[in-house]
Amino acid sequence: MEKIKVAVLVSGGGTNLGALIAAERDGIIRSGTISLVISNKVGAYALERARVAGIEAITVTKAECGSQEAFENRLIEELRSHGIELIVLAGFMSILSERFTSLFRDRIINVHPSLIPSFCGKGFYGLRVHEAALEYGVKVTGATVHYVNEIPDGGKIIMQKSVEIREGDTPEILQKRVMQEAEWIILPEACEKVSKILLGKRGMKD
Ligand code: GAR
Repeated sequence: MEKIKVAVLVSGGGTNLGALIAAERDGIIRSGTISLVISNKVGAYALERARVAGIEAITVTKAECGSQEAFENRLIEELRSHGIELIVLAGFMSILSERFTSLFRDRIINVHPSLIPSFCGKGFYGLRVHEAALEYGVKVTGATVHYVNEIPDGGKIIMQKSVEIREGDTPEILQKRVMQEAEWIILPEACEKVSKILLGKRGMKD
């Protein structure tokens, strides 16, 4: 069966990448296939996860490229030469420019560890999101998968899942629960959903 070629962009531990790999193995992701992993951080553990799964994994850093523009040009080159049709940002801690996002309109999705529009946008990433949720005192948080456009965390929402905050939660405990109960579930589901949509579009063109 024809599948959409998916690239996963990472910066860190890659537990979301792990969930995507498992979901493809288990048939939750059927319309897409993870073909490339790109890290913008040297030595990110996510790269190791990709290698173990037999997925091509490369590192492209802004420092080595010299500027945001050159960095994005390298990404575009790699994505194009691998025939990538869908880009999944899974803990990718670099904001992409409008030039980049408009080149791949409706073909980039991101997982964010809160219920957007709460605790999102510039400066809200990783543990910081959970610190802010606990500081504010919300009783429910969660995760969101959305399309990526020029506004950080501002693209159309694809899926959300809520997670209860418990007495005694620390940012670390909450981060883990949001991953387990929300991110690792909705990211693979959204990846399948969007891959299926893109397969449909491919059909229309043929
Ligand atoms: C995840 O919680 C992801 O939602 C978050 O970083 C973590 C990466 O973990 N992303 C953002 O905050 C983006 N704004 P992982 O590397 O183990 O998947």
